[in-house]
Amino acid sequence: MCGIVCYIGSKEATPILIEGLKRLEYRGYDSAGIAVHDGKNVHLVKTKGRISDLEIKISNLQIRGNMGIGHTRWATHGEPTDINAHPHTDEDGNVFVVHNGIIENYSILKRRLEKEGIRFRTDTDTEVLAHLISYYFDGDLIEAVRRALADVEGTFGIAVIHRESPGRIILARRGSPIVIGIGNGEHFAASDVNAMIRYTANVVPLEDNELAVVTRDDFNIMTIQAAKIVNRSITTVDWKAEEAELNGFPHYMLKEIYEQPEAVNNAMRGRIDPAEAVPKLGGIEPVWDDLKRCKNFIIVGCGTSYHAGYVGRYIFERLTDLDVDVELASEFRYRKLNFPSNTFVLALSQSGETADTLAAIREARRKGAKLLGIVNVVGSSIARETDAGVYNHAGPEIGVASTKNFTSQLVVLTLLALLIGRHHNLSYTEGAEAIRELKALPGKIKEMLFQANHIQAIAEKYYRCNNWLFIGRKFNYPIALEGALKLKEVSYIHAEGYAAGEMKHGPIALINPEMPTVAIVPQDDMHEKMINNIQEIKSRKGPVIAISTLGDREVKKIADDVIEIPRTLDYLYPILTVIPCQLLAYYCAVLLGRDVDKPRNLAKSVTVE
Ligand code: F6R
Repeated sequence: MCGIVCYIGSKEATPILIEGLKRLEYRGYDSAGIAVHDGKNVHLVKTKGRISDLEIKISNLQIRGNMGIGHTRWATHGEPTDINAHPHTDEDGNVFVVHNGIIENYSILKRRLEKEGIRFRTDTDTEVLAHLISYYFDGDLIEAVRRALADVEGTFGIAVIHRESPGRIILARRGSPIVIGIGNGEHFAASDVNAMIRYTANVVPLEDNELAVVTRDDFNIMTIQAAKIVNRSITTVDWKAEEAELNGFPHYMLKEIYEQPEAVNNAMRGRIDPAEAVPKLGGIEPVWDDLKRCKNFIIVGCGTSYHAGYVGRYIFERLTDLDVDVELASEFRYRKLNFPSNTFVLALSQSGETADTLAAIREARRKGAKLLGIVNVVGSSIARETDAGVYNHAGPEIGVASTKNFTSQLVVLTLLALLIGRHHNLSYTEGAEAIRELKALPGKIKEMLFQANHIQAIAEKYYRCNNWLFIGRKFNYPIALEGALKLKEVSYIHAEGYAAGEMKHGPIALINPEMPTVAIVPQDDMHEKMINNIQEIKSRKGPVIAISTLGDREVKKIADDVIEIPRTLDYLYPILTVIPCQLLAYYCAVLLGRDVDKPRNLAKSVTVE
């Protein structure tokens, strides 16, 4: 959840570290710091607050040096203060460590070191690592880091430098990503490729329980335990540097909402064969024979990815003969799992690093399931730990609130369901119809984005309401959940997503003129039932914002405000209905003066449980 960035080469390290940290700020933003080695000494600067606060602090100092490590923090142990910010050091100020993850046995290790007379200065778990490395250091930094990590329980992605060891950065990983970036006479490292994409697209991700020694001209990867050298090939990421820029948009969230036509297109590019009405998903081939025989299919994910999985369940039920379930990864991992043979578990994740989703698939593997992934970040942990999978190619998603990743996940879920469905009973006609409609989606999303001003005006009317409801049925029930989540997380307005049929079982008691309901009511087989729900709300004087199909006069007659969406197939509506929900959340947050891309208490990529 925090961000790490490192540089070693012939350029000044400080501007590169600051630039990288800015790109990682979405991962954590309560404090930040850098340590830069000038060949003799290490300069440490850290502060509570944003990277901009760190920049101000640095601007008064003369920091030079061609090698350094940096960190932006999302507090887990210890309040966000100057002293708790990373990098952390040992007592003598020789060892400098940045760390993502959690050292679970830190209090045991701390007591042990305190008995040796070592004094601690911070409330963080990370400080213990700096002292441990210093304790074991006798001139060999690799050995000291290996010995320190052997004592540690928990998760880590770390970067370490030592005052007496200029010219090398030590990296290590267990459960928290670290990627090496390969430059020309220089190397980078980061917890996320976004931090270095401006400098290089050639990367080497570390695997769990590996350590790397990175110098200006070289890098070597080895196992932490046995120091056994590992050969790893270089991966080239297809993200472009400008994709990670704002490009004139005021916020990443808005930019990423507007990138959805392209993201949806990219999710299908090269994967559709209209002649056969069967998608081509090369990533699934390794398990295709088993998947053809599969009866039991479980989708897992967290937050927005879980909501995509929930829509996915309805899509799979519509297009295939599979028995499909969807579960929150954070709950699934603690269930008593008992799978019928040939069960597949599909993990959905933008980052590919979400700790709960990773734990869920590891548990599923232990219980004999085969694993699939739909992941955005190439080479991420979930992508590597699943038996097969599909990248959704949404491009970098920087806004903490997930938007374009959601719609592109839905496209890949539909392609996968179509592929399996065509092997089951789905007819050529239905397959061809699905493909035709999928291809029309980017144009339809563009049409909807022209309504942004109208949606902004609706947000202006209601943004002062403290409580909102979102309701939908069947394919659009998960969109009600997602609409409420988006509004909550970026505007801090309390919102609840409900299956519309549940209204009469409780939530209708909340309805009053101050509580708007967003009713997702496209023209599908739930339309009539949704109209009844809207009537029930209106007769209790609740304002209704309806998201309905273009030209739906019935909805226009009863709703206070209407956002129209183009017509499509029932199971593709969620890809359209979610967009007004994203825009409503965005505009409410802006009107309330919220920090849209970095909402309080949140972080992109939740790598702790
Ligand atoms: C909400 C949001 C989160 C993520 C969740 C899973 O806007 O971004 O709910 O969807 O943390 O993250 P990934 O998809 O990276 O596994």
